[in-house]
Amino acid sequence: MKKTTTMKELEKLAVEARKMAYAPYSKYKVGAALLADDGNIYTGCNVENSSYGITICAERTAVAKAVSDGHRKFKAIAVATASSPPGPPCGICRQTLAEFSPDLDVILVNTRGEKRRTKLSKLYPDHFDARHLESAKRGRRK
Ligand code: THU
Repeated sequence: MKKTTTMKELEKLAVEARKMAYAPYSKYKVGAALLADDGNIYTGCNVENSSYGITICAERTAVAKAVSDGHRKFKAIAVATASSPPGPPCGICRQTLAEFSPDLDVILVNTRGEKRRTKLSKLYPDHFDARHLESAKRGRRK
């Protein structure tokens, strides 16, 4: 599959996934489509709760679906909102995505067809990861 075709497809799937959003409180619907390195695509939407804090974002829904299906390396994510300019992933989602693929391609789209293409490393530079935990362990004293 050509890369351009894949990206177009990914954008469409994110827009489709957005329609499944459960967002009765914020009314802010988000869809995501995550491309794994073997070509598999996992979609997700935000799932809100009356206990607001336990809401899960669309991006993390897609990551949880992919990881629970055995995928841990990703090439790209498309995120669809109705915002103009298209809304970027929140901080928690940036950290979640960086756990697996810090150099991910990120495509932000909206329902008007506006688009922004960027990289997770640009949106979320200098991310925290397992290396920090390891180096702290090495330096730990009894
Ligand atoms: N939301 C996402 O799904 N992804 C983000 O990266 C930003 C925020 C959702 C959470 C909540 O349901 C709604 O958007 C408003 O914050």
